[in-house]
Amino acid sequence: MTVGSARRLWAIVPAAGRGERFATDTPNVPKQYATLLGRSVLEWSLHALLAEPRIHAVVVVLAIGDERWPEAARKINSPKLLTTVGGAHRQDSVMNGLEFLAPMARADDWILVHDAARPCLSGSDISALADALEESQGGAGAAGVVLAAPIVDTVKRELGGALETVDRAGLWRALTPQIFPYAQLRHALQDAAVNKLQVTDEAQAMERIGSRASLVRGSPFNIKVTRAEDLKAAADILKLGESSQMRIGQGVDVHAFGAGDHVVLGGVRIAHAHGIVAHSDGDVVIHALCDALLGALGDGDIGQHFPDSDPRYRGADSRVLLRVVAQRMQAAGLRLVNADITVLAEAPRIGTHRSAMAANLAADLGVAAAAINIKATTTERLGFIGRNEGLAAMASVLLSG
Ligand code: CTP
Ligand code: MG
Repeated sequence: MTVGSARRLWAIVPAAGRGERFATDTPNVPKQYATLLGRSVLEWSLHALLAEPRIHAVVVVLAIGDERWPEAARKINSPKLLTTVGGAHRQDSVMNGLEFLAPMARADDWILVHDAARPCLSGSDISALADALEESQGGAGAAGVVLAAPIVDTVKRELGGALETVDRAGLWRALTPQIFPYAQLRHALQDAAVNKLQVTDEAQAMERIGSRASLVRGSPFNIKVTRAEDLKAAADILKLGESSQMRIGQGVDVHAFGAGDHVVLGGVRIAHAHGIVAHSDGDVVIHALCDALLGALGDGDIGQHFPDSDPRYRGADSRVLLRVVAQRMQAAGLRLVNADITVLAEAPRIGTHRSAMAANLAADLGVAAAAINIKATTTERLGFIGRNEGLAAMASVLLSG
């Protein structure tokens, strides 16, 4: 935060739970590391927070011996990430996060707490909370803000077998993030611990010490992944939120001509006076296309996924590699809108092979052949291509979520 006395905003993300309810259906992976559209649940939750520039740093509270975190941290690669270890209950984990921040945070700095298990948090909900804090600082001073969604269903309570209807007026579902001043939150959680009271959110601890937070209306789709079926719901919600997401990528590949009597382009074998010098089948069209797709996914490049040094790829059919890349695209919830590919070569001429190449690529990517355009050019006898020493291809792709 840059308002008033420059109270900073820190985030604490409790991620040290055992996910016992989730584990009854999916025992192998703790729920914060379950895969959701190509990323872990925790990565999605952090991604949302790291996109808000007013958050100074994010403390992720991890279970002792968490072996999955280093890989997630490497992928996120943000200097704003800090870590500490959690405790037996959620409130202990948040408390550990506060203690970790003790040397850095001031008493009146703001602390935002967000469950690692809520991956569908939107940027607009985070900024609505931060805006509410900034606005309140002009007045009496906010005691804190809690993201919440009004209850829209009729609410029943079952008592001794009989049902009664609870008036839903004024009832809200408390979500996270919740934001409170550092010293007050620490005091409230300490007080709850001394009185052996288990609280299920920060607001409950704050209410006990008489603090009056305000509710900020948030999206009802900011769900907590609790059971296995919630993961499917979270994927659908994230896809809706990103339905207008567009990603662009480009790729280039070059191979030298060598001994042989054919080249492979777009999975089509084309007779030629030379062969290709390559570890795999040397299909520059597919290699450029794979690099463009990986680029659009933000997922490295072809050399990282299929290293030359790996004997599995010796003489490999590049269409197999393309299908692996297509699977990564699908796992990320993206599909190809179109690909535009240019082959640069003096020879062979590819005109008569273009439709067969497009049909191969379309089949591997699960799109209509019309989504793939292949064209060719010579380089007017200039450079290594002009001297017939080799050939190249360039590809551009557009993906949509
Ligand atoms: N959490 C934590 N430390 C704990 C318990 C929970 O950091 N000792 C975190 C969880 O990782 C989760 C959040 O608090 O991000 C919300 O808790 P909950 O949904 O209850 O998760 P779990 O406790 O992991 O799940 P369960 O209650 O089913 O075991
Ligand atoms: Mg729990």
